[in-house]
Amino acid sequence: MAHTLLSVLVFLFFIRVSSAEPARDRAALLDFIAKTPHSGRLRWNSTESTCDWTGVTCDANRSSVITLRLPGVGLVGTVPAGTLSRLSSLRVLSLRSNRLSGALPTDFSSLASLRHLYLQENLLSGEFPQWIPKMVRLTRLDLSGNGFSGEIPFAVNNLTRLTGLFLQRNNFSGALPSIAIPTLNAFNVSDNHLNGSIPESLTVFPASSFAGNIQLCGGPLQPCNRPFFLSPSPAPASELVTKSRTGKLSTAAIVVIATAAAAMLSALLVMLIWCAVRRREEKGKPPKAPASVGARGMDPMGTASSSSKDMSSGVGEADRNRLVFVGEGGGYSFDLEDLLRASAEVLGKGSLGTSYKAVLEEGTTVVVKRLKDVAASRREFEGHLDALGRVADHINVLPLRAYYYSKDEKLVVYDHLPAGSLTAVLHGSRGSGRSLLDWDSRLRVALAAGRGLSHLHNSAKIPHGNIKASNILLRNDPSLAVVSDFGLTPLFSSAAQPPTHVAGYRAPEVIEIRRATFKSDVYSYGVLLLEILTGRAPNQTSIGSEEGIDLPRWVQSVVREEWTAEVFDAELMRYPGVEEEMVQLLQVAMACVATMPDSRPEISEVVRMIEDIVSRSEPLPSDDQRLPESA
Ligand SMILES: *[C@@H]1O[C@H](CO)[C@@H](O)[C@H](O)[C@H]1NC(C)=O
Ligand SMILES: *[C@@H]1O[C@H](CO)[C@@H](O)[C@H](O)[C@H]1NC(C)=O
Ligand SMILES: *[C@@H]1O[C@H](CO)[C@@H](O)[C@H](O)[C@H]1NC(C)=O
Ligand SMILES: *[C@@H]1O[C@H](CO)[C@@H](O)[C@H](O)[C@H]1NC(C)=O
Ligand SMILES: *[C@@H]1O[C@H](CO)[C@@H](O)[C@H](O)[C@H]1NC(C)=O
Ligand SMILES: *[C@@H]1O[C@H](CO)[C@@H](O)[C@H](O)[C@H]1NC(C)=O
Repeated sequence: MAHTLLSVLVFLFFIRVSSAEPARDRAALLDFIAKTPHSGRLRWNSTESTCDWTGVTCDANRSSVITLRLPGVGLVGTVPAGTLSRLSSLRVLSLRSNRLSGALPTDFSSLASLRHLYLQENLLSGEFPQWIPKMVRLTRLDLSGNGFSGEIPFAVNNLTRLTGLFLQRNNFSGALPSIAIPTLNAFNVSDNHLNGSIPESLTVFPASSFAGNIQLCGGPLQPCNRPFFLSPSPAPASELVTKSRTGKLSTAAIVVIATAAAAMLSALLVMLIWCAVRRREEKGKPPKAPASVGARGMDPMGTASSSSKDMSSGVGEADRNRLVFVGEGGGYSFDLEDLLRASAEVLGKGSLGTSYKAVLEEGTTVVVKRLKDVAASRREFEGHLDALGRVADHINVLPLRAYYYSKDEKLVVYDHLPAGSLTAVLHGSRGSGRSLLDWDSRLRVALAAGRGLSHLHNSAKIPHGNIKASNILLRNDPSLAVVSDFGLTPLFSSAAQPPTHVAGYRAPEVIEIRRATFKSDVYSYGVLLLEILTGRAPNQTSIGSEEGIDLPRWVQSVVREEWTAEVFDAELMRYPGVEEEMVQLLQVAMACVATMPDSRPEISEVVRMIEDIVSRSEPLPSDDQRLPESA
């Protein structure tokens, strides 16, 4: 009997305890789950106690729900207001790795006991929730991997117990507030769009806490107070790929990390880690550009500036940053990271993009060209530039050294020649009383450019596509001038109207066929010769007195009227006894600018004709073979 009574008492006790239900919380949860689509795996059995439901735990006397963890259960859509916010004793809320979207309901502010909030890996958006700084008991806040935007509020400082703040992989922008929470020991805002400097209070965290904010600087990232070539790279380490001339890759390792979250949110992160031998033998490396004519007046487009330009837009991020060296690579051993840290100045804005002189930290100087409006796909781009990299070295061709491709940024890297371009010495200081390029130098530069072009046509079998004075770069010996920027035009949309300021060099048929040919190069080269002879820029809006007439037609009209001497650059008249050579070169130029492509000579023939002119002229003493520095 006693036994039975005891049994009954125990039974009753058991019933009483186990049936204790957090009735209000149960209703809130049922309300939530009824309004939120989810996968079938989440079955909350209505005959079971709420406290035994998957993901739910209650306090000791089972009177209220204190944790709710529903990671990766396929919750979809916005979190309905007036549901979870009723779980007034909730301390831990995890809804991570679902497909929750939109803004969080503002009534979450009533979750006054909340200590841990995990909402990472969803599709949540909107501003940083204003109610979060009011949840002063919060110790862990993870909003990473969502689409939150706007600024991170200074008010997060109200969360005085916070130990971890994870905001990475969102769309936060603006400056980082000075967050100074003594308990904070984990912090991550990487992969956002933050800008400005990292506040002192946050500089204890490593660079990877801030990486991927291309406009952020200071602290563990590079200092803010000097000009950048590009803003800091998001990637903690960039990879360097060196391709040899045969295109063979050195040791390569590929690490693929793929994460897929609960069949719903799947993120695939592919990391390619290339370990590459950076240096090839230095053999065959072309001579380093010697320091030469002062940099005065060497800026081709008159846009030089020592201030940094914002070249940061979109470099890197999703793309792994790979600077690909081609050909011999010039013996360079820098990587993208180094390039990003370089100081830069604008050399010129051309038809294909803007060129920068980038001075790397260890002192190497290179030219980086940002190509704009590239139409080629990544594959086409890489294939084409690899091919350009295989163009054999020639003393009169500036080799391509490296390239970089990402969705938003296409870069090509060349050697920097400090003497500047032909444009600068031909037109740069006209009227300043300083002497410009003398006749002998002009002739030798013309020959050098012709030889470079001939190498491209006959050895490499590619048209240059963009012959103009600003693409003829000088060395202190005019015979060592180079043609630069060759072979890039196929990367651009043929539908795009070529920019007007190259129009002066463009062969008439190119407007119709919309691509460069050997013959159109010869035409452009002919215009270049006319420019050298006349000292007039073909892209000037008016030549002579007539508006809208191009240089070849102007020269033709003057020559027809037998005023031949009038076409020549007045500067050249100071050199006695060169007029005959000038007339000979003029004849070569006129042949090159024939309207019919078939009437134009081959470039190799042109080179031969100029070699004839040069060999007939008496070689000057070597002292006079340098470009004049001043009058
Ligand atoms: C709920 O649980 C009880 C007991 O564990 C079980 O008999 C019943 O089938 C479950 N109901 C559902 C809908 O799963
Ligand atoms: C349950 O425990 C909480 C504290 O954890 C207490 O405030 C509440 O009064 C208790 N309720 C019951 C019915 O014992
Ligand atoms: C943060 O705390 C300060 C002072 O305690 C208060 O004035 C401010 O309103 C709080 N901000 C938010 C967003 O809660
Ligand atoms: C991020 O915010 C910018 C505006 O600040 C917007 O243009 C862009 O679409 C947003 N990106 C995402 C992924 O939400
Ligand atoms: C940072 O970005 C915001 C817009 O998101 C802009 O208004 C502000 O000028 C930027 N600040 C700096 C220093 O670039
Ligand atoms: C910050 O988050 C990024 C992206 O998730 C990660 O790569 C990086 O290691 C994190 N850094 C720290 C310090 O947690």
